[in-house]
Amino acid sequence: MKRIAILISGRGSNMEAIVQACAREGWPAQVVAVISNRPEAAGLDYARRQGIEAIAVDHKAFADRGTFDAALMQAIDAQRPDLVVMAGFMRIVTPAFTAHYAGRLLNIHPSLLPSFAGLHTHERALAAGCKLAGATVHFVTAELDHGPIVAQAMVPVLPGDSAQQLAARVLVLEHQMYPAAVRWFVEDQLQIDGLRVSHRGGAAQLFT
Ligand code: GRF
Repeated sequence: MKRIAILISGRGSNMEAIVQACAREGWPAQVVAVISNRPEAAGLDYARRQGIEAIAVDHKAFADRGTFDAALMQAIDAQRPDLVVMAGFMRIVTPAFTAHYAGRLLNIHPSLLPSFAGLHTHERALAAGCKLAGATVHFVTAELDHGPIVAQAMVPVLPGDSAQQLAARVLVLEHQMYPAAVRWFVEDQLQIDGLRVSHRGGAAQLFT
């Protein structure tokens, strides 16, 4: 059984989708902990209701990024995870953190990377006149939002879309793509070659 720890900051709908798919599809894995940098994150309540350990490591209690990351790593490592999944985790992590979890740290970013790394992705895609938007699941490396891409989801940008409407359309596919990507990892189906990630069984890594 692979042990999964999920990092969140808020709502936690991607985390929920992963917890539910893991149980429903009988993955050789278990979500052992949900950890938030915000104690008030709604996702922590959901985890508790599922009997999953719910932990808050409040970033505001730490003087700087380095000491917060050290405390976060300690909380994560106490769970002995095989995989750490960032799902709406809204903190930039240090190179020490990404090095420590190299090859076993996934993130979901709401844009078609390498376009629109960073914040406000949907607003920026609309402002740029994009006709296509989406989300990316990638391995996390020291460079923000630039690690090897496991899967991407694409949706059309429709005339008159607001950022909220676009985000909602993308989120539907996030909830399909992220559980699939996590499942591939725990089933040892992912092969990494530089920035390229392929699925050993040839599963489609593009969600539409
Ligand atoms: C998602 O759109 C994710 O891509 C982004 O933040 C949002 C988190 O939503 N990083 P949730 O907390 O999983 O509901």
